[in-house]
Amino acid sequence: MKTLLVKYTPRNERSSTKKLLDAFRENIKNSEIEELDLSKDVPDMFLEGNLLAYIQRNYLGNNLTPEQKKQMSKMDRMTEQLKSADVVVVAFPMNNFSMSAPVKAWFDSVMLKGQTWDVKNGNYVGLMNGRKALVLVTSGGFYSKEPMAAWEHALSLTKIEFQFMGYSDVQGILAEGMNAGDDVKSANLKKSIEQVQSIAQAWHK
Ligand SMILES: Cc1cc2nc3c(=O)[nH]c(=O)nc-3n(C[C@H](O)[C@H](O)[C@H](O)COP(=O)(O)O)c2cc1C
Repeated sequence: MKTLLVKYTPRNERSSTKKLLDAFRENIKNSEIEELDLSKDVPDMFLEGNLLAYIQRNYLGNNLTPEQKKQMSKMDRMTEQLKSADVVVVAFPMNNFSMSAPVKAWFDSVMLKGQTWDVKNGNYVGLMNGRKALVLVTSGGFYSKEPMAAWEHALSLTKIEFQFMGYSDVQGILAEGMNAGDDVKSANLKKSIEQVQSIAQAWHK
């Protein structure tokens, strides 16, 4: 079994999001662990060259030139890494109501047609069945109730991305109120850490 931890926690030791991920890591048993730090190993964005190469190869079935293969190589590496994992955990703070660019670029890198999802008989099909995904997000504000619930595009979008890829079990935890004062922050963080621990234990028996 293999567990992939994907993190974007550039505040490092000061990061509340890192505490959630640490709680998961500490409860992993009987599994190889691989980590991807999106602050250091920054995914490529789709730009002119690699977007064309992706369409040529994955949609039209054409061969790539050596230059195009190079342009796709980081996306291909990150996709292979994700495909090799039975469990994936993605951890990042909410920034401007969704995810910062490296996290979105990682999803763009791994959501490759023919690799993690495909179209069969005119329908979208996820190819990652049997795997589990957990999303860990912290936010300064509160999004569990209206009117702010409609502003939450971090956890909601990320869960949809994993569901689209066909993950059989997609869970998400949002530790909110990290900027609402020390008492609220520590209470919400504690509650979220307990949730993380119980998911990690259930997934690594
Ligand atoms: C650039 C930036 C943008 C942020 N945007 C939001 C936001 O849209 N909504 C929110 O509730 N909190 C926002 N925050 C607060 C962070 O989500 C919150 O403090 C989080 O817990 C920080 O995570 P970390 O401790 O892991 O770095 C933002 C913080 C920064 C630095």
